[in-house]
Amino acid sequence: MALRLDYSNMIAGHASAGIPETQLREHAARFRDAHAALRQGHDAGTLGFLDLPGNRHLHDQVVRFAEQARGGWRDVVILGIGGSALGPIALRTALRPPLWNVLDVSHRDGHPRLHVLDNVDPLTIGTLLDGLDLRHTLFLVTSKSGGTAETMAQYLVVRQRLEDAAPDDARRHLAFITDPDKGVLRAIARDEGIPAFDIPPNVGGRFSVLSPVGTLPAALIGIDTASLLEGAADLMRRCDTAELARNPAGTFAMLQWLADAYHGLRMQVLMPYSDALRDFAAWFVQLWAESLGKRRPDGISVGPTPIAALGATDQHSQVQLFMEGPVDKTVTFISIGSPARDVEIPALHEDRKELGYLGGHSLGRLLDVERQATAGALARRGRPNMTLHLDRVDAWHVGALIMLLEIATIYAGALYGVDPLDQPGVELGKQFTYAMLGRPDAEGARREWNLLPKPEPQWSV
Ligand code: PA5
Repeated sequence: MALRLDYSNMIAGHASAGIPETQLREHAARFRDAHAALRQGHDAGTLGFLDLPGNRHLHDQVVRFAEQARGGWRDVVILGIGGSALGPIALRTALRPPLWNVLDVSHRDGHPRLHVLDNVDPLTIGTLLDGLDLRHTLFLVTSKSGGTAETMAQYLVVRQRLEDAAPDDARRHLAFITDPDKGVLRAIARDEGIPAFDIPPNVGGRFSVLSPVGTLPAALIGIDTASLLEGAADLMRRCDTAELARNPAGTFAMLQWLADAYHGLRMQVLMPYSDALRDFAAWFVQLWAESLGKRRPDGISVGPTPIAALGATDQHSQVQLFMEGPVDKTVTFISIGSPARDVEIPALHEDRKELGYLGGHSLGRLLDVERQATAGALARRGRPNMTLHLDRVDAWHVGALIMLLEIATIYAGALYGVDPLDQPGVELGKQFTYAMLGRPDAEGARREWNLLPKPEPQWSV
């Protein structure tokens, strides 16, 4: 089992717009400070995600609940948004690939299907709820704060449907995943005896995938959550060094930060060559964007722009831009050593040169060769890129990859000089929403909203 980082193509010798090797070495001391900041944060109790792989109590609760639920539900639906949804979606796609859901509508090994409602689009929600047999459906209401408008609105809609279907049975179809003390969900759980799982107070939404936010739905659909946590724990041990050259998360963070801060490479693409990791890239986008896009204490706005891509699909879409557009990007590929399955390409039409060369290879080899070719082509055009190699897509490797990127985010926060754990920038929009919907404590926001010039269409047809 291994996860490797190959950053040769990030270095100027391989890709002309890259980082000089000397510059990377010169920043070893700066990395020691970033590592010290992470350790201080952990000692001070602010980085609770680092404790999740070792939190047996939390994991045992999840496993027990999943065992008791076995065979009881046909469908599980997560109500949540942001960090409360992107992690579980990434786990489901990586470890229970979507085709499994599409093709097999019956129970498989007694495991239910998992749906994630991560928006309040009425068409999606109405259609899913109409299609489900509520008698066989469990809803996981997931919110760290226990008060997010979108998730609470979903909960109210679902609760009404459950009450209408079977008033005495509604509570049996609910489980909450929320803060141990705060928020309205916790209060309802206490009052009504609804099972509720803790998101530790020092674990923020986008760092919560290894808490019950991710592990509970994962365990319910049969993902090996123990292995997921072991992979994460292993990666944490590998990052327990202030020596930059030996710390994979540190190296990833330092390369991306140097690329942005010194070389104008402000966009950072994550491009797995694996359909199973498609949603993993979306999870990373939130982690990187919401953690690092900030106004520093000195008033300067900083932060890389993360972009999700998928190989080989995006070779026919975004790669043209990556190759010849502005030199303002790094690309991080994710390669898979052994695909979960492979398919041989038959040797047909061997006399036709446009087809004959494909026969005898496998689709897995074609996919990997395309990755190598794209990485090489980018480097040849001077465009820095690196590759995270996973032996395979299984729970252990996904757990390790999650931890690598979470730790890298904390290091990057220290390098950028921002707090990677907060998100003050989303607050004003929330307050304006409350104001327009008439929330009683939003008077100040209502006044501010009323003073704003309102958009008017310049033309209409
Ligand atoms: O990372 C974060 O903190 C946010 O993206 C939250 O996950 C998101 O806003 C949802 O919040 P909550 O889990 O409190 O409902």
